[in-house]
Amino acid sequence: MKIIGIHPFGHDSTIAFLDPEQRSIETLTLERFTRKKHDMNYVVSEFREKINGFKASLLALSNKESRPIDIKMFKSLQRIYEINATRRKRKLRAGELFELIHKKLLLRAYLFKRKHEGHEDWIKLLKRETGIPSCAAYDHHECHGYSALWTSNLAKKDDVLVVTIDGQGDDACATLSTAQTGQITRQVTVPNAFSLCILYSYFTEIAGFNPNADEGKLEALACYYTGEQSSLLNELRAWINFDKETLAFKFTPTSKIPFDAIPQNRKKILSWLKNVFKGVDAKEFAYAMQTLFEEKYLAWVCAAKDKFGSRHICMAGGGIANVKLNLRIFEEANFEDIHIIPAMGDDGVAIGAAIIAALENSVDISFLAKVQMPYWGRSAEPEEVDQILNMACQRGLRVEGPFDDKELSHKVAQLIGRNKICSVFRGRAEYGPRALGHRSILANPTDPNARDAINNKFKRREWFQPFCPIMTDYEAERILQKYYPNKHMTCAFRVKPEFAASIPSVVHVDNTARAQIINQSDEPFIYSLMVKLKEISGFAVLLNTSFNLHGRAMVNTPQHAFDDFMDCGLDYLVLENHLIGRQ
Ligand SMILES: [Fe+2]
Repeated sequence: MKIIGIHPFGHDSTIAFLDPEQRSIETLTLERFTRKKHDMNYVVSEFREKINGFKASLLALSNKESRPIDIKMFKSLQRIYEINATRRKRKLRAGELFELIHKKLLLRAYLFKRKHEGHEDWIKLLKRETGIPSCAAYDHHECHGYSALWTSNLAKKDDVLVVTIDGQGDDACATLSTAQTGQITRQVTVPNAFSLCILYSYFTEIAGFNPNADEGKLEALACYYTGEQSSLLNELRAWINFDKETLAFKFTPTSKIPFDAIPQNRKKILSWLKNVFKGVDAKEFAYAMQTLFEEKYLAWVCAAKDKFGSRHICMAGGGIANVKLNLRIFEEANFEDIHIIPAMGDDGVAIGAAIIAALENSVDISFLAKVQMPYWGRSAEPEEVDQILNMACQRGLRVEGPFDDKELSHKVAQLIGRNKICSVFRGRAEYGPRALGHRSILANPTDPNARDAINNKFKRREWFQPFCPIMTDYEAERILQKYYPNKHMTCAFRVKPEFAASIPSVVHVDNTARAQIINQSDEPFIYSLMVKLKEISGFAVLLNTSFNLHGRAMVNTPQHAFDDFMDCGLDYLVLENHLIGRQ
């Protein structure tokens, strides 16, 4: 039974194709095709052909709450999508711009009116649109939870705590569940009113960054705060708490923070924060929010562990992108096993929905636990690669290869050892927000200038944002303090003090590094590259950052890779088994 899991609209719209018989999975996130970060547009329009060809018998939807929509409004939505696509290619004419504004306003009014209605219409429409006869809808946080549980090797265990934390989805912002032999039982639901992720997005906005996108910047900036006390943090600590027995969150409004719900008081909270921001250093502002986030969720998870007697933990949801929270849960909650799905955000709910549908229909999906690396995205056709190689030759670039994997990995190691910056496009794309060696920019972490060089040429990151490493399993043992073999860059770890200065480009100011730790079978090419690099630099460690120019989503096709390579001052492009360099 083939199943399509779908997160049709919203932050990181995604579609997942699950074929249990063939033990295959493909996940396509819209932003990788449009290159618009976190693209929220309708996903069916982009992948219609692929959906028709897949011939699924079941469509699994990642929201249970109504997506208020009807045919007429749906047409408007499609039109908005089309106009937005045009807008990416060229400036809109006045008539088009008017139509866009008109349709958006109309849609907003309609959504407001029909809130909590229309779910059936939406399902009917999806069935018609995709041609799939059967559609089941699942709770958003349940989708997050199942996505984490069934991509781990913990689905067969009976003492697992499943934690989901996000902005909001199906009226919840966080949940605690227990899992026994693969089935999840909800224990605690935290309503949207207590959404610390939404509060985090308000802090992000007031600090001058993009809400729902740049929260990681605040997380990074928080580490630069050197004060011992923060009155803002103390006030926040007193304002929001949870009951140790029921694990339900509660507010204690104070004269300084008089709010009894977060999203419902958006305007008031933003205006309060605006004033707060004037009176404190940006570092303290970031520190207060980050520390609140860590402390409250860490204590909540620890209390749940005690209450339910859990020994293992699986986590998902946009809030779990916070690698410092994950570090504290790893270090202080003392679970025997910890698993975080690489696609922790809403791109992950597409596969979560497909997993629930498979389980409901007694379809065997145990193969998922054996897939260690989430290389589930699109791969390039040979003709696409050839086309780019020809284009590169015509533009006067040096094209070498094809090489075998070992030869190429050694060549690239030599280049990186000479402090050259190499971009890599090989194999299938990663599922989730992190580049894990297939759509990556790689550099020498022992080079103290690597960070600035990448920033100047490519990334334009803030001065306080760190880059992260990939390292081999044996190198992690040598240079990290307490760690577990996290293959997906979803948790920070502490670097042993004696090594922090040796790999300056990948260690944050607090001596932590969000490391991807791999063994040979996880990614043989990258592993071989690091083994060779150790002979040159003394470290089997690479600086690894996602392959995309500032403001664009990660590259997804050879054409994207070539465009970004040409649009900046990168030294080399590894395109499958070829090496492209500037003459
Ligand atoms: Fe979510």
